[in-house]
Amino acid sequence: MDQERLLRELTEFLRIPSVSTLPAHNQDCRAAAEWVAAELRRLGCRDVEFLGSETHPVVSGKGPDVPGAPTLLIYGHYDVQPPDPLTEWTRPPFEPALNDGKIYARGAADDKGQVFCLLKAIAASPRPPVNFRFLIEGEEEYGSKVLFDLLKREPQRVRADVALVADMSYVAPGWPAVYTTLRGLCYAEITVRTSKTDLHSGEYGGAAPNAHEELCRLLTRLKGEDGKVNIPGFYAPVQRPSTAERAAWKKLPFNEKDFLQKRVQAKALVGLKKYSVLERLWALPTFEIHGILGGFTGEGAKTVIPAEATAKVSMRLVPNQKLASVERQLAAAVKRLAPKHVTASVRFLHGADPAQIKVDHPAFQLLGQAFKDVTGRATVPARAGGSIPVVPALASAGAAVILTGIGLPDDRLHAPNEKLDLKQLWDGIEVFRRFYELLGKK
Ligand code: BES
Ligand code: MN
Ligand code: MN
Repeated sequence: MDQERLLRELTEFLRIPSVSTLPAHNQDCRAAAEWVAAELRRLGCRDVEFLGSETHPVVSGKGPDVPGAPTLLIYGHYDVQPPDPLTEWTRPPFEPALNDGKIYARGAADDKGQVFCLLKAIAASPRPPVNFRFLIEGEEEYGSKVLFDLLKREPQRVRADVALVADMSYVAPGWPAVYTTLRGLCYAEITVRTSKTDLHSGEYGGAAPNAHEELCRLLTRLKGEDGKVNIPGFYAPVQRPSTAERAAWKKLPFNEKDFLQKRVQAKALVGLKKYSVLERLWALPTFEIHGILGGFTGEGAKTVIPAEATAKVSMRLVPNQKLASVERQLAAAVKRLAPKHVTASVRFLHGADPAQIKVDHPAFQLLGQAFKDVTGRATVPARAGGSIPVVPALASAGAAVILTGIGLPDDRLHAPNEKLDLKQLWDGIEVFRRFYELLGKK
């Protein structure tokens, strides 16, 4: 493996600031799509095309036909999350830096580094006997609308024996995993309006309602101090993992104290204390506040009673919860919990149903074998707290969807100083090379 050349090429890909949620980066998203397309052509793909017109294209392609061989659909995303807060990066997020055997950049692990790994594993083998199909999208971090619409129009695009998604991590160093569930997501803005305009807090304070105060009260009614979400019906479809599954989680190399001290780096963990941390992260739904807008937040001081305040919130959903029902439940709860003198509204930005995957297809064995051959340990089944909106749709034509990845739990996805360990990348290229080979022999 020519590691120096590979690092040069990965650096080129990571240098492109393909932030899908910020319109200022539309050209950069296009450039990242071009990079992927060029790579697919280098792999000998035909029909390399950009699909979906409105925003960032889905890059699609087909590897050389191998009659009678299994079809493997490779999914990934070339878009990344915004890099802010910039001041917390040791090196600028789009100037990839090597240090201690790690590459630091936005997208290093999520998901450009992993897309790179899957593609370079094809280049590394003398033409694996597999019919490759590719769907590499540019809007995963914003809800995958383009790809959803595309698959509604052209569901045959996901026709395959197996779909491979490498957009997650090992459960711990040395412990590769396949994931049996992903949480879904319901992202919304809750806006509270209390008067026609802002008011002088001296003239009106003490008698006029305050939008921020009303919003804060509303939010703390929606989720209590105990971590419980007070939205009627929210928990009704939630099923506890079986005792066997919970017992298996106890054997994973996960320690609540280390999780608090090394990963969360806070003073305490919160949430529904009667459930284990893994159950809270993997099998229970959540409600989080991402930001609150409105009122005066500039430098200095201004004595004003804000007339309007907006909170960006999201809920993570677990198997059997449905995005559409949760949207209705949230809208109803906001209406019910806001006092009569307040106008409260909810706007839904994007979302995803949760995914549940059976890992009984023979391809899971083969991937486990490939990991074992290369890293010394086969994959363990686990669940994931994050979301990949399009996964249920990838499974809709019968493909067995393999959720796995080469990242590590401390990669700092979506946060400053995101990184990928190079050992994970080099091993990963070998693992997937081996997996393609085993799949082709089947
Ligand atoms: N790769 C992540 C999803 C992920 C993270 C799965 C960690 C498992 C463990 C993905 O890129 C992501 O960040 N998804 C978003 C989706 C959302 C914006 C619709 C997420 O989970 O917030
Ligand atoms: Mn991702
Ligand atoms: Mn992400």
